[in-house]
Amino acid sequence: MTTFSITINGQIHGPMEIRDDLTLNDFLREYLGMTGTKFGCGAGQCLSCAVIVDNPDGTSSTSPTCIVTAADFNGKTIRTVEGHAKNGQLSQLQKAFIEHFAFQCGYCTAGFLNEGQVLLERLSKQRIARAELEKTISEALDGHLCRCTGYVKYHEAVRDVILADPQRYLA
Ligand code: FES
Ligand code: FES
Repeated sequence: MTTFSITINGQIHGPMEIRDDLTLNDFLREYLGMTGTKFGCGAGQCLSCAVIVDNPDGTSSTSPTCIVTAADFNGKTIRTVEGHAKNGQLSQLQKAFIEHFAFQCGYCTAGFLNEGQVLLERLSKQRIARAELEKTISEALDGHLCRCTGYVKYHEAVRDVILADPQRYLA
């Protein structure tokens, strides 16, 4: 057993005792009932389970949750799909996903949303040329698997959010 605490969407959970081998995915879904984070392959291959990690240097990144233990995230700060909407208002990226009909079953959506959000945050700190945008979005979303709608609509949704605010995201 391990003593563990974690901040999720701005709320501290713990300290509490957890099994050493408890995955972060099981902790979110089974302990906290936060089922927005999905469990797909369970092998680090589809990224449907990805969450946002807020790094100490102010950057953000994503991590799968199926192949890492919750204990690995002791003291860390993460965000899940449940944290994107604020005061009942969807984020710009969530709205764009809906406008583009980017998902069908939605199983992959939380992972794409978190990855897209991390990209937006990265570009807001380090803007890129318009000519780099398509490649940058493709590379950011690479690795996320979707069995329903394919990938174009997610790509277009992320692009729309960036192009809607070029001064923020583009050099
Ligand atoms: S469920 Fe975690 S990568 Fe597929
Ligand atoms: S919307 Fe069903 S897997 Fe992507």
